[in-house]
Order: sequence, then C-alpha cells, then structure tokens
Amino acid sequence: MQAFLIKDLKDYEGKEVTLKGWASNRRDSKGIYFIILRDGTGWCQCVVSADSVSEEVFNECKKISIETSIEITGSVRKDEKQIGGYEIQASNVKVISVADEYPISKKEHGVDFLMDKRHLWLRSQRQWAIMKIRNQIIFSIHQFFQNEGFVQMDAPLFTGNACEGTTNLFETDFYGDTAYLSQSGQLYGEAMAFAMGKIYTFGPTFRAEKSKTRRHLSEFWMIEPEMVFYDIFQNMDVIENFLRFVVSNVLANCKAELEMVGRDTTVLEQIVRPFPRLTYDEAVRIIKGEQDVNGQNSIKSLEDELAQVKAKIVEVNAEIAEREERIKTPGMKKGEIGFNQAKIDKLKQELKDLEEQERNIPGWLESARNFEYGNDFGGSDETVLTRLFDVPVMVYNWPHAVKAFYLKRDPENAEFARGVDVLAPEGYGEIVGGGERETDTDLLIGKINEHELPMEAFEWYLDLRRYGSVPHAGFGLGLERLVTWICKLPHVRESIPFPRMYGRLLP
Ligand code: 4AD
Ligand code: MG
Repeated sequence: MQAFLIKDLKDYEGKEVTLKGWASNRRDSKGIYFIILRDGTGWCQCVVSADSVSEEVFNECKKISIETSIEITGSVRKDEKQIGGYEIQASNVKVISVADEYPISKKEHGVDFLMDKRHLWLRSQRQWAIMKIRNQIIFSIHQFFQNEGFVQMDAPLFTGNACEGTTNLFETDFYGDTAYLSQSGQLYGEAMAFAMGKIYTFGPTFRAEKSKTRRHLSEFWMIEPEMVFYDIFQNMDVIENFLRFVVSNVLANCKAELEMVGRDTTVLEQIVRPFPRLTYDEAVRIIKGEQDVNGQNSIKSLEDELAQVKAKIVEVNAEIAEREERIKTPGMKKGEIGFNQAKIDKLKQELKDLEEQERNIPGWLESARNFEYGNDFGGSDETVLTRLFDVPVMVYNWPHAVKAFYLKRDPENAEFARGVDVLAPEGYGEIVGGGERETDTDLLIGKINEHELPMEAFEWYLDLRRYGSVPHAGFGLGLERLVTWICKLPHVRESIPFPRMYGRLLP
C-alpha cells in the first residue's frame, strides 16, 4: 500500500492508512505501546495494543527504540489532545531498521553537544519548525521579487576582488592564482542590473570573521537585489515592502511552526506599520539619549530596566528558596513535590535570562554613553537603538569613512554616503545593508585607492561607469539574520541546516 503523509491525516479520518517514518518516542503501558511517529511532514501518536495486532507484531514492537524506522498501518482517529490532532489505532507494525541508542534524549543537552550532533538534531521538533519557517521565507523572497518583475541572476562565488573590505576574505587557490570566496554578489549584481533593469542574486556568501557572536556565520545566504534608476529613498521603499511581504507571509503560513518555536508574534504583527527612517545623525542622538523616541529615552529606559531586572532577581530567588524549603517538608505528596520541582526549574530558567540581562545592560549603557560620533554601530549600539521600536528601523546617510567604497556620496554633504542599514527590533540588529551606488568614476577610483584595493581587479567594475552610467541602488539581506529574528532564536547557528562559523566545520 502507498504510504500516506502525517500532514494529510485530516483527510483520512476513520480510514485505514499506512505511514512510514521514525519512532521519535515510545512508551509502554500494560498491553499497549504508544509510539510517536514522525515522517518529516509531522508527528502523530500511534497506539499499538496487544488486542489489535498479532502476537508476533506486538513482540516486534519491543525492539522499537528511539529513531527506529518503522511502517505502521492503522485507522485514523481525531484526537485534539494528541500532537498533530490525530491518532492511529495500529493494526500492523513493521520494523525497517532498529536504531542504536539515540544520543539525543529528552533531558537538556548543551548547545555544543547538539551542534556536534546537528545531523540528528535536525530531526527534533523545534529544529524542524525553524527549517520549515526558513523554507517559507525563501519561497516568499522569490515570490516578492518575481512578482515585482526582478530577474534572478547569480553571481560567481570565486572572485578576484574584495567587495566588502579585505579583512575577512577567505583565500583559495584558483589554478595558481589567488581567488577569494565571494563576500557579496553586489558588484556583479550591478553589472547584471545594467543588462536587465532589476535583478536579484540569492547565494552563499563567505566572511572569514573570527568572531563568536550570536550574529556571525562564516557562510551565510544573501539576497541582493539591484535596481537601475533607483535612488536611496526608492531603495528604502523596496526594502520596506519586501520585509513586510516576507514577514506577513510567514505569519499567514507558518502559524503552527511559530508556535512550535515558542514565538510570541506580537512584535512581528507590527510589520504593517511604517518603518522609521532615521539619518545617522538622528540615530546617534537617540542612542546617546539626546533625543527621545515616543517619549522614551534610551539611557533612562535602560537604567529603569536594570533596576527592574535587579528587583525581579531578588523576587525570583526568594520564590525558589521558598519552594525548595517546601519540598523538604516531611510527608509531602509525590505529586506536590513534582509540581514544585517543575516550578523551580521554570524559575531557574527565568533567573538565567534575568541574570543575562543584568550582565548585558551595563555594557549597553556604557557603549551608549560613550558612543563616538562618526563611528559605525556595534552590536550594543544597534540594541540600544532598536529596543525603542517594534518595527525594523532604517538608518541612512552614514559617514562615508566607515562604509564600503562603492556607496554614493551624499550630494548635500560629501562627508556622508548614501548607505542604509536596516536594524531588526528585539535586539536583533542589522539584517539588511545597502544603498545608492557611486556613479562618479573619479570618486570611485579615489575610494579604491584609499581602501588599498588592487585597481586592475576593479577595471571591469569601472567600465559600468564608463559605458552608460546611471543612478542605481540595491541592498543585501542576510537570510539567516532574518530567520533568527523571525523565530526569535538566541543564536544565528540554529537558523541554517549546517552552520559554518569560527570553530565549526563539522558535521
Ligand atoms: O552589510 P553587508 O556587508 O552588505 C553587503 O555585503 C552589500 N554588498 C549588500 C548590497 O548592498 N548588495 O551584508 C549584508 C547583510 C547584513 O546586513 C547581514 O544581514 C548579512 O548580510 N551578514 C551576515 N550574516 C551572517 N553572518 C555574517 N557574518 C554576516 N555578515 C553580513
Ligand atoms: Mg553591513
């Protein structure tokens, strides 16, 4: 019989189906096995009772360890209490391959351990849900650009020059020449836009950054649209519509998955509101507490939050101590001990989060107070700024000295470049970097020299200005940064199937 998929069970209520997959859990109770089956499309409980299968089959079930692959035939019953909402009353079970003792169990594992077992960890519910959301994001990205008349064109990954500075290049041998793994497809994107009008690239990108932050990958996927006859403001319109489209699509299509990752979607739902557009100058004033946002002051609100966090820590500690004392009371019932222990575990988790905030906030305060005008934003500065908003914030007109060589000088003030960064709320920081491109060949040559880049590798790029130069603009979205924010993950490493980052090349 052809195998059915768990996601389709809703159409087969009362019917008999055969499912193929893996046992993600097995419980036994007098004469009954409860098996949670997963098949990649979902999870469902299968009940195998001694009365409804042959003795031989029932004995076979004893072998079913976690992640054993199996085939189960049975009738579909609606049961809202069960995972997925349907249950199978088994009439037959076949073991395909008995699994060795599975290294990932219900108990808490450290992230490093789970990362070492990433090839197996991907099977667990939370990781599954993140990957489904990632898939929806990718699909929506293509939908948006294709609907808007963009052509997807791909940039090479072996490159002969640096797009985003020379400090984080991965070097490799290319038939005796030095090649670099692409840091960005942008320069090629510009050439392709001059052929097609509006294009986007979507490919892997490499940055050799020996940083172990929660935002950095060495290999990540970037979407880079490029549009001719667009200025920075039209560019910002595209970015805003694009992010709104993708986030709205995820909200509409991934309700169950967002729930599985425990995402409170209140902030995501704000995506319909306009994104603030701040100049660098305004953003700096806000960070330094010289300008309020909606009656909120960055410094004051951080100080208040720190005081609240400290008070809350005292409160939670007291409750933990009290419950620990209560558990020790002689004659306390098992159920009550369990209830209190569960509460204590939860409180301890809360305490961990609070203590992390207690450690972080002083650093943010310090970097906000000491921010030096003219600098690029660091992670803390981004956090201080975005905490005050519920929607992504666009910061534009940056000091040209801290931004890439290809950005157009602001015609009104040559100290600034027409770059734009989009910062996600909830402390996630930069998800998009982009801007209008320099059209003045001499300014570009000056910048290439200033950055000490090899001119011969950029000759082809300069040709774009020599042969029919036009205003143009574009941006790059880091896919994993977006996935991380949408799922509200603690670290970017969970947003990609097999992360590559400093200290991690396997699995
Ligand atoms: O700001 P970046 O460096 O901009 C560019 O590469 C431009 N050439 C894009 C363009 O205008 N076409 O990178 C763009 C985005 C960042 O905003 C961030 O989301 C992501 O790429 N990104 C990273 N994501 C994960 N790990 C890293 N190490 C990243 N570096 C950048
Ligand atoms: Mg950037």
